[in-house]
Amino acid sequence: MLSYTTILVGSSIFVLYVIHKYLDFRKAVQSIQDHPGYRTLFTVALPIIPKHIRGICPGHLTGWSRKHGEFEEAGWDIASVVSALPAARVIIMLADPAAIKEVTSSRARFPKPVEQYKVLSFFGSNVVITEGDEWKRQRKIAAPAFSERNNRLVWDESINIMLDLFENVWGTQDSITVDHIVDLTVAIALLVIGIAGFGQRATWTGGEVVPAGHSMTFKDALHEVSTRVHMKLILPNWVLNWGPTETIRHFKLAYDNLERYMVEMVQARKTGEKKEERYDLFSNLLDANEEESEGQAKLSDGELIGNIFIFLIAGHETTAHTLAFTFALLALYPDEQEILYRHIKSVLPDGRRPNYEDMGSLSYSMAVFNETLRMFPLAEDTTLVTSNAAGEKLTVPVPQGTYVTIHTPGLHYNPRYWEDPHVFKPSRFLGDWPRDAFLPFSGGPRACVGRRFSETEAVAILSLIVSRYKVEVKEEPQFAGETFEQRRERLLKCGSSITIYPVRAPLVFKRR
Ligand code: HEM
Repeated sequence: MLSYTTILVGSSIFVLYVIHKYLDFRKAVQSIQDHPGYRTLFTVALPIIPKHIRGICPGHLTGWSRKHGEFEEAGWDIASVVSALPAARVIIMLADPAAIKEVTSSRARFPKPVEQYKVLSFFGSNVVITEGDEWKRQRKIAAPAFSERNNRLVWDESINIMLDLFENVWGTQDSITVDHIVDLTVAIALLVIGIAGFGQRATWTGGEVVPAGHSMTFKDALHEVSTRVHMKLILPNWVLNWGPTETIRHFKLAYDNLERYMVEMVQARKTGEKKEERYDLFSNLLDANEEESEGQAKLSDGELIGNIFIFLIAGHETTAHTLAFTFALLALYPDEQEILYRHIKSVLPDGRRPNYEDMGSLSYSMAVFNETLRMFPLAEDTTLVTSNAAGEKLTVPVPQGTYVTIHTPGLHYNPRYWEDPHVFKPSRFLGDWPRDAFLPFSGGPRACVGRRFSETEAVAILSLIVSRYKVEVKEEPQFAGETFEQRRERLLKCGSSITIYPVRAPLVFKRR
C-alpha cells in the first residue's frame, strides 16, 4: 500500500510539473504576442497521426489537407502553432509571399534544421543535408552539373524514351489501359534519370546485359533502390546485412549493386585516357569537380556519390509523381486537355519530333505542369530555424529557436493571389502571374537545383503523349454512378511517402 505521504509527495511533484509546463507554454505564447493560430498539448506531428486533433497535436498532413484554411481561421497569412509537451515549442507558418521571401533570401538567419535530414546521408555527404560554408562548397560544385547541355540531353532522351514506349510497347493498340498512372510515370522518370542523370541508357523491352562483378543491371538496381529507399531509412544496417526476408535481401543486393556501379563510374572517369563528351549529371559533376577552383576543396569520392544519389532521391519521385497528377487532372478536365492538344498542334502541326528549341513555344504544356505543381506542391512545407532575436519585417516576433515553416499549400491556395484556387486553370500561368506566390521548388539561394531538369522532362513527355493520345479516366462498373466531384476526389486522393502521390488513378490512353 502506498503511504499517504508518498501520494502527497507524488501528486505535489506532478502538480509542480504541470505548473512548470503551463508557465513555459504561456511564455512561448507571449513570445509571439499571442499571434493567432492553434495551441496543442503535444509538439510532435507523428506520421501515425496524420490529421490535426484540436488541442491535442498538430498532424503531419494537416497543412496539406487544410490548404489555406489555417490562415483563414487565424485571420492572417502568418499563423502560429504553440505546443506544450515534451517542451514548449513555437512554429510560425507562412503563407505570405513577402514574409517567405524574407526567409528564403536570408538563409544565415534561417538555417535549415539539417539534423532532420541526416538519414539522407547514407550514400555520402551531399548538398541537401549540409548547411553554411559546407553547403556552399557542395552547391558550387553541384549546381553547374545542371547545365544547358544537360537540359538538352534531358529533352532528347525524354523524347527517345517516349518514342520507344509508343513503338515497342504500346505498338498498334488503339487504347492502352494503365491501371495506376504512377506506375507509368515512375517507369518513365527512371529511364530519364538513368540516362540524363547517370549516363546509363536502358530500353522498355530490356535486353541490357549484367556486367561482370554485378548481379543486376543498372536499371534494375536503380529501380529497386529508388522505389524501396524507405527501407534504408527505417531499417538498421544489421537488419539489412542479416536479410530476414526476401524483400530485404533483394533490396540489399540492389543497393550494393548500385553503390558498386557508382564507384566504378567514378573510377572509370579518373583512369580513362580519353574523355568522352558526356553531359549527364554524373559526368558533369565529375568534370566540375576536376576544375580547379581557388581555395575550394574538391568533393571527395564519397561526396560525389552522395550528391549523385541525392539527385536521384530528390529528382526521381518528385517529377514522376507530379506527372502522375498532371495526367489525372487532364483526364478529369477534357476541355482543358483539348485546349492543350490544340496548342501543341499549333506548335507542331506536322507531327514532327519536338526539339529542345520548341520548349519555349510549348507554353501551354508548361502552364499545365505549373498548375499541377500549384495544386499539388509535393514538398508539403519546408521548415527552417531562426537564429536571431527577432525577424524585423515579420508582423509577428520570431524568437530565437522558433521553427519557421514555408506553408506551400497555404501559399498556393491563398485567394489573395490565386483566383478560384481550387479550380484547375492552367491558363493562369500564361502572361503575368504572381511569381512570389508560387514556390513548388522553394526559393532563394537554396531553391531546387533540378527545377529546369524536371520542367524540361515534363514538357517533353506531356507534349508528346498529348499530341498522340487522348487521356481518359478508366470506366469501372463499381463507379458507374459517381458524380464529377466524387470522381475527382477518388482520382486525386493523396498518399504521402517522401512526396505526396495519387493513391490510385486508373487511366486510358486512346490513340488520336
Ligand atoms: C517536380 C519536381 C521537383 C520538385 C517539386 C522539387 C522540389 C524541391 C524543393 C521544394 C526543394 C527545397 C527543399 C528544402 O529546402 O528543404 C528542392 C531542393 C533540391 N532539389 Fe528538387 N524538386 C524537383 C525536382 C528535382 C530534380 C529533377 C532534381 C535533380 C535531378 C532535384 C534536386 C534537388 C536538390 C539537389 C535539392 C537541394 C538543393 C540545396 O539544398 O541546395 N530536384 N527541390
